Amino acid sequence: MVEVSVRNVKKSFGATEVLRGVDVLVPAGGFAVLVGPSGCGKSTLLRLLAGLEEVSAGTIHFGEREVTHLEPRERDIAMVFQSYALYPHLSVRDNLAFGLRLRKTDDAVIRQRVDEVAGMLGLGALLDRLPKALSGGQRQRVAMGRAIVRRPALFLFDEPLSNLDAALRAQVRVDIRRLHDQLGATSVYVTHDQVEAMTLADVMFVLNRGVVEQAGAPLTVYDAPATRFVAGFLGSPAMNFVQGVIEASGDQLRVRVGVGDESLPIPAGEFTSPALIPGLRVDVGVRPHDLVLAPPGAAAFELSVDYVELLGPEIQAHGALAGAPIVAALETQSNARKGDRIPLSVKRLQLFDAESGRSLR
Ligand SMILES: Nc1ncnc2c1ncn2[C@@H]1O[C@H](COP(=O)(O)OP(=O)(O)O)[C@@H](O)[C@H]1O
Ligand SMILES: [Mg+2]
Repeated sequence: MVEVSVRNVKKSFGATEVLRGVDVLVPAGGFAVLVGPSGCGKSTLLRLLAGLEEVSAGTIHFGEREVTHLEPRERDIAMVFQSYALYPHLSVRDNLAFGLRLRKTDDAVIRQRVDEVAGMLGLGALLDRLPKALSGGQRQRVAMGRAIVRRPALFLFDEPLSNLDAALRAQVRVDIRRLHDQLGATSVYVTHDQVEAMTLADVMFVLNRGVVEQAGAPLTVYDAPATRFVAGFLGSPAMNFVQGVIEASGDQLRVRVGVGDESLPIPAGEFTSPALIPGLRVDVGVRPHDLVLAPPGAAAFELSVDYVELLGPEIQAHGALAGAPIVAALETQSNARKGDRIPLSVKRLQLFDAESGRSLR
């Protein structure tokens, strides 16, 4: 296992700057997830770690060793892609052995390692099959196995679950994290899927337009998003946002939303930013699960429900507040129906500067 340190890395393709000064630190043995929307530069960053692309500026270290300009084969890494890229004419066994043969590893060692990895991944009965005779999930495991047999210091994953159906994705996700823990390697995993990022990561890096908007433990980032972008990107259903203006009300602050006189109290003590002064325009963020049915009279606002989704364990009631779409994730027993006006209170809200998008905590 090895520590990975990316310092102020920039990458341009021609005139297009794709990475604009990225810092990533992954402790040895850690599982890091780079997460962000399509096109934000995740794969580019992973390819720079692998040595498949050359940085435009900045450095990459694996432990003490600077690898910025080393060839891929000198970096002691293995990469697992979305497309499994198995050799179609080779059996599972030969696919697994391929990388070791290329490195002129001893035959007895190859056999022992392939058997060990096949056992680990439950591929023992499939070793003589060709890839075309495997299911998607099995192919994915062969691709993982091919990385594992090489015993690299660093695993790089680029959206490895994207080709699997939802049920299998959830299962293989757990398998990947278990394998990581068992192997004691360092892993860097790229995905656009915030659920994968939340569930897999020790440390998460949220990328947006070529910069890291926030880094940290998943729950920390989820609970205290540094920007409106991060707040909206993590969580399902996504956080609700309503525009508002800060107002003074006695010695308290509140935020008036929309053109009417609807306003939400801002809990004293929770927000200490000196920027939070009357007149400031803000985006108010409330997670759907932080909206709860209120006793009459105690509601922060009433939601006119125009659509309801039944999910089983909960229902999601859709409506609008001050012109902004709102989703409330409510207990199924709440029985909210289309056409109802339901009283809701706000368990927790977040405030973002409307101008900069920065959190105003
Ligand atoms: N070889 C390349 N030449 C030119 N542009 C590229 C190249 N590789 C990636 N890009 C551009 O860089 C941006 C980021 O791409 P990528 O890292 O693949 O994003 P992600 O993996 O986050 O979806 C995209 O706009 C993409 O078109
Ligand atoms: Mg990509």
